Amino acid sequence: MRILIVGSGGREHALVEVIAKSKIATELFCVGHNAGISSLATMVPLALSNHAGIVEFAVQHAIEFAVIGPDEALVAGLADVLEAQGIPCFGPSKIASRLEGSKAFAKDFMVRNHIPTPSYQVFSDIAAAREYLSRCSFPVVVKADGLALGKGVVIAETHEEAEQALEAMMVQKIFASSGQTVVLEEFVSGPEVSLLVLSDGTQVKPLVSCMDHKRVFEGDKGPNTGGMGVIAPNPFYTEQIATQCMKSIVLPTIAALKREGSPFVGCLFFGLMLTSQGPVVIEYNCRFGDPEAQVALSLLDGDVLEILLSCRNGTLDQVSVESRKASACSVTLASGGYPIAYEKRKIITVGNLPMGVSLFHGGTAYDEDGQLVSDGGRVLHVVGKGKTLAEAMCVAYQAVDVISYEGKQYRKDIGIRALQEEEHGSSCVHNPYS
Ligand code: AMP
Ligand code: GLY
Repeated sequence: MRILIVGSGGREHALVEVIAKSKIATELFCVGHNAGISSLATMVPLALSNHAGIVEFAVQHAIEFAVIGPDEALVAGLADVLEAQGIPCFGPSKIASRLEGSKAFAKDFMVRNHIPTPSYQVFSDIAAAREYLSRCSFPVVVKADGLALGKGVVIAETHEEAEQALEAMMVQKIFASSGQTVVLEEFVSGPEVSLLVLSDGTQVKPLVSCMDHKRVFEGDKGPNTGGMGVIAPNPFYTEQIATQCMKSIVLPTIAALKREGSPFVGCLFFGLMLTSQGPVVIEYNCRFGDPEAQVALSLLDGDVLEILLSCRNGTLDQVSVESRKASACSVTLASGGYPIAYEKRKIITVGNLPMGVSLFHGGTAYDEDGQLVSDGGRVLHVVGKGKTLAEAMCVAYQAVDVISYEGKQYRKDIGIRALQEEEHGSSCVHNPYS
């Protein structure tokens, strides 16, 4: 089977790697640039926004199945245009992707379907938003409605900070049209869980639960990033909580999407917060998480291509989706200065990697001399696997030590909080860093 993977970051490298192992995959193509992926797939240098070019390529190369990674392509309707040309896709339609494409839509969807989520108000008029700020309690969470590369959420501790965020989004338009509408949301706290769930529109099968580390610095300090590391399974996501989340969040979401005429085919990412009042949805993403995919796919058993196909074909109930009883830890190696300003084209050297490590490229390229160089903010994702979380972390960090480039930036505490929870088994729902 000839497969096209759309997108070329660490998430897509992980997808390409598992798909390449499938017994039914014959040839792989990947839209974008990535030195790591280029050893497994033929790279197709088209922009993600070039839907006509991607469709033309897929038709000309007799692509039999397309797997779409990034949110911007899904929200802009790439799955719809490929399907319209007879190319089956893993990835939701444009209307199903609204859950990520518009936070206001997602919040209204949750409220009308009784899915627990923090309270909120939606504003397209800055005067009305300011008036709300004059009487709300702080902290308050200011969210740009549309896609904003993971930077559209501001936790405003004070009235002044909230005003600044509104001004930046609605007046200075730092996220262009994505900030025309804002959601002002109640601040809640508790451990966070990234839950990736596969769906064929009706059936759902969850992957292993993950814990992301979004802030750039150790101890959860500094600005948010695309993700500085992930561990799985997430020890806060106990069996009891999993049962509760399936019943009150996951199944009602999938059923409501179908009922409302937008069945979800693909991977739905639930950003959950386990508050003292119970689990709530902080966000939906209409795609695999990055770097969650790197650990969840590394732990997934079976032929992943067959699983993805079953989502498209409405036969998810006929395949087994089981994660190995092991742990994984992914440490992101970023460029110095990420996520603000950073330099690219730094030469990367990789020594002998220990057993149990996979290296997924986020932003890499080969320079004119054929040397591996950095080519993005998140450069490499180093995934260690082990029988226990401690073992997975140890292997991942041993591998981190044999990789060098100028300005290499990473967090040394990926997994520490999860280890503490495993060791003390506390039912603490407060962030120890706050
Ligand atoms: P998002 O892009 O929606 O995932 O938000 C980024 C991060 O902001 C989340 O991972 C949370 O840590 C935080 N966040 C979002 N919404 C809330 C909220 N209502 N209360 C507290 N923290 C939040
Ligand atoms: N790691 C968070 C995300 O993919 O949105």
